[in-house]
Amino acid sequence: MDANSFISNTTNPVAYHSNWEAPSNIALIKYWGKKAPQIPNNTSLSFTLTKSVTQTEVTFKPLLSGNFDFSFYFDGALKSEFNDKIQTFFKRIEIYIPWIKQYKLIIKSQNSFPHSSGIASSASSMAALSLNLMDLERHLFPKMEESFFYQKASFLARLGSGSASRSIQGPVMLWGKNDTFSFCSDQYALPFGEDLHPVFKKFQDAILIVDKGSKVVSSTQGHYLMQSHPFAANRFLQAASNLEFLAPAMRAGDLDVFMSIVELEALSLHAMMMTSSPYFILMKPNTLAIIEKIWTFRATKKVPLCFTLDAGANLHLLYPMEFKKTVNSFIQQELAVFCQNGQYILDHVGLGAKKV
Ligand code: DP6
Repeated sequence: MDANSFISNTTNPVAYHSNWEAPSNIALIKYWGKKAPQIPNNTSLSFTLTKSVTQTEVTFKPLLSGNFDFSFYFDGALKSEFNDKIQTFFKRIEIYIPWIKQYKLIIKSQNSFPHSSGIASSASSMAALSLNLMDLERHLFPKMEESFFYQKASFLARLGSGSASRSIQGPVMLWGKNDTFSFCSDQYALPFGEDLHPVFKKFQDAILIVDKGSKVVSSTQGHYLMQSHPFAANRFLQAASNLEFLAPAMRAGDLDVFMSIVELEALSLHAMMMTSSPYFILMKPNTLAIIEKIWTFRATKKVPLCFTLDAGANLHLLYPMEFKKTVNSFIQQELAVFCQNGQYILDHVGLGAKKV
């Protein structure tokens, strides 16, 4: 489906209220580099999470006169500092949801994970907001098919933040055209498919909070730096090739291949940061200390535990459910000491967003 097929009509406005909860996600094949309008330079693949969620409710008030408007509340308090970002999002998506111009929106949002824990909330928050918009659109156009609902929600979320496109469904999501999965699209994300090995449907993700501070370089700036990056072309080829090897491993439940590609992707992402111009480093000494510990633990205990990194110092530890007890006590006894205030979050793979 191309972008134009997502343009809806205008209708008479109605009073409406909706409430959605959308999860965060962690990429295994990393999206790093994009072109306008928010089109990725390579495919990405992610685990959808369960406990790390944003819940957003929207009250849609029909406007009898005047222009589109909104107010945004976070954790119960009016937060105008997010207005520019939300306004930019609505400007970008207005052409696809022209009916929005006849409403004032009251948006109330909260996250399940602690504020400033270093976990990016743009994916879950843009996904939750987009699902609320689609909830009203489905109310206005009741013949809408379910696949259209989810694809357009992912499409709208993508225009807010690329990784948000993958926070709509689960357990494993793919975004961006590639040769391995012919059904994939640059416009929205889709689930991996029925043939995903069961071990990955219950995979665990422990998020180790190494640093809660704000990043020296944002993801948006990092994506921009890929435009003139000397290794960009090869990086995009590498991501495609990693997906080609990861896909059969995720069907077969081959954990050795899975772990080697996931860690290669994480370190390649950070290698891109370290070789950008200007260069930057988002890992911290404790990030590397934890990686060393994981590698020793894996070699000595023969436990299939690996890590990935987001665009920051925090680590996501990934392992099958059957090793939950062993890994969780390893984290508690040996890794928590490297986390800021000993903080970590035990999450796991999930099925996607839910209506509240
Ligand atoms: C390293 O989705 O946050 O987490 O599209 O500019 O909002 P924008 O960027 P964003 O970038 C995510 C980068 C990443 C990798 C990934 O999630 O695939």
